[in-house]
Amino acid sequence: MHLRRPALVERTEIATFEQNQNLCTMESFDWKNLSFGYIRTDANVRCYFKDGKWGDLEVTDSEYIQLHMAATCLHYGQEAFEGLKAFRGKDNRIRIFRMKENAARMHNTALGIKMAPVPAERFMEAVKTAVRKNERFVPPHGTGASLYIRPLLIGSGPEVGVKPAKEYMFMVFVTPVGPYFKEGFKPVDVMVCRGYDRAAPLGTGCYKVGGNYAASLTSLELAHNSGFSTTLYLDPKEKKYIDEAGPANFFGIKNNRFITPASKSILPSITNMSLQQLCRDMGMEVESRPVPIDELSTFEEVGACGTAAVITPIRKIVDPDTNAIYGYCSDGKPGPVSTKLYQRLNAIQTGDEPDVHGWVDILD
Ligand code: PLP
Ligand code: COI
Repeated sequence: MHLRRPALVERTEIATFEQNQNLCTMESFDWKNLSFGYIRTDANVRCYFKDGKWGDLEVTDSEYIQLHMAATCLHYGQEAFEGLKAFRGKDNRIRIFRMKENAARMHNTALGIKMAPVPAERFMEAVKTAVRKNERFVPPHGTGASLYIRPLLIGSGPEVGVKPAKEYMFMVFVTPVGPYFKEGFKPVDVMVCRGYDRAAPLGTGCYKVGGNYAASLTSLELAHNSGFSTTLYLDPKEKKYIDEAGPANFFGIKNNRFITPASKSILPSITNMSLQQLCRDMGMEVESRPVPIDELSTFEEVGACGTAAVITPIRKIVDPDTNAIYGYCSDGKPGPVSTKLYQRLNAIQTGDEPDVHGWVDILD
């Protein structure tokens, strides 16, 4: 056994939610001004893979894990994560958005970097348990905040040679969040990044692995230091096409069409997939194809989409290497299609609109 499981204690010495928030109660908590950060919640869920099989789910209140120093996640990047959200409806019921898709994507990622995949049923049970155990942290309806759910899968078994671990650990923690970009549903400025790639042409860009995010940190800091909210990555092979907008997919709107990059080095976004369906529902055409950077000048609206980013409209894209500047939202407001998509997505997630596509799991 290489992992010692944390004791199931009632409370530890670490600050509780109320202490973290200067002793305010859940009722008086300023949900509307939550940022996208970590707040300690009551419990998280864990599951261990050993001797070729997954064990039972365990619930703990410890925020820490004990890990072998030779664990493959630490040395060889055997690490995958997911991101999804739970919402509170007007009816006070809690809705989890498209968790089956996240289970499938993590399964695919696990296969991509030779980890033991978590069976979808266990993934979903762990997510539901983590949410149930932290129900009081699901923000009230109408605040714009949600409960962010972070499943995490790591190679925990020790290896020194480069090879997959024999043991794995799967965890799910949750934390209440506000908008990822501090502007919320307001247009942001984005910088084209030619000097760095987040993924290689035939690399791990289509998997949700930590290494892609490590590879993005320098360019992200460059963008932030230059006053931009995030980076726009180009395809790593030719630098001709748009890949991703930081930790989100990219989309453009023109002539009643939703256009989004098809690329082997981007993450298949569940939000993007949902927006494509909503566009079809609204009678729009959807194009998933390579999007040349030159096409930026032809879009009526552009934006980033993802679980954390939701829909983040883009006001300006600056390409420092060519001095090109692409401008949108001339009145300073998100465009009409982005606004409609944002509202419809949010309405389905919170239960304000019927879930006609079966995207939502309501917790009993
Ligand atoms: N692209 C990257 C690199 C991401 O990190 C994310 C976030 O998960 C997305 C796209 C959006 O994916 P999803 O909509 O499934 O959250
Ligand atoms: C998400 O949207 O869930 C992400 O994973 C993006 C980022 C916070 C890593």
